[in-house]
Amino acid sequence: MKTVLLLLSALSFSSRSGSCAPSSCRLPPSQWCSSLDSAVQCGVLKECLQSNFTRSHQTADPVLVELYYESLCPGCRLFLTEMLFPTWLLLNEIMNVNLVPYGNAVEKPDGQKYIYECQHGKEECLGNMIETCLLNMTKAAFPIIFCMESSQDVIKSAKSCVELYSPQLSWDKVMSCVNGDLGNQLMHQNAMKTNALKPPHNYVPWVTINGEHTDDLQDKAQVSLFTLVCNMYKVQLIMVISYIYIYIYIYIYIYIYIYIYIYIYIYIYIYIYIYIYIYIIFFFFFFFFFFFWGFLDLNQQLLFMK
Ligand SMILES: *[C@@H]1O[C@H](CO)[C@@H](O)[C@H](O)[C@H]1NC(C)=O
Ligand SMILES: *[C@@H]1O[C@H](CO)[C@@H](O)[C@H](O)[C@H]1NC(C)=O
Repeated sequence: MKTVLLLLSALSFSSRSGSCAPSSCRLPPSQWCSSLDSAVQCGVLKECLQSNFTRSHQTADPVLVELYYESLCPGCRLFLTEMLFPTWLLLNEIMNVNLVPYGNAVEKPDGQKYIYECQHGKEECLGNMIETCLLNMTKAAFPIIFCMESSQDVIKSAKSCVELYSPQLSWDKVMSCVNGDLGNQLMHQNAMKTNALKPPHNYVPWVTINGEHTDDLQDKAQVSLFTLVCNMYKVQLIMVISYIYIYIYIYIYIYIYIYIYIYIYIYIYIYIYIYIYIYIIFFFFFFFFFFFWGFLDLNQQLLFMK
């Protein structure tokens, strides 16, 4: 998600400054903000600092949308391609998506491994497995899964979708995950996650928002996920902001009390010192006064006596 963000922001900078980055800049746009040096070399320091600042001050956590689905169910494909993916494209800064391809499948232990039966047959199990492996192997999994689910044939399109969105990922690697232990183990994790749902799912696509599922949330997600995510984020933001205000008030009060105490102590010390000095001065004054006065008086008496 962060890399997509970085990419988008970098792209917007590159379009703003045209395609003429200084010649000392040999990095692709996605890495211009990766360090202070590269930002200076590519002449985008101000933009990088600004985008870093706004990103670090994005206080509320993103809304977590999880989709429990299966690769060939028509309702799932519709929700994923027409609702979830477009919303994520628009709101990926404030929303995280977690896909769990398993749905109504059933697993049976078979020695160390598991055997799966899927609602729409073997093809669907294969689709679920490919998507599960992709989710583990590449950050571009969501666009690839969107590409598959929006194609005529989910399975046949998989290879070209991977080549399109993640050219560096080899298809053979994906298939060795699909047919190997890793895929089997990852699918078992999906099964455990799906079976642990509270309330348990009784249809697919099954949506949870921040880990919670209610009929109301599901309806709102299917009518307009965009509105739902925005509203949830606003609520979270307001809570975060009110917490920040409460903290600020507490700090202000603590500081005020500390300052008041410090001033009171300083005044008390000053008064004590002043009183001590005054006493000392008076003491010496009277001491010398009486001493000299007595001395003079004695002298006079002595003079008289003469
Ligand atoms: C932007 O933030 C990233 C990580 O948060 C950091 O590595 C990078 O140095 C920052 N870039 C600038 C120009 O400060
Ligand atoms: C992929 O799956 C393995 C095994 O479960 C796990 O250790 C690893 O963290 C996963 N990687 C990602 C990116 O999810």
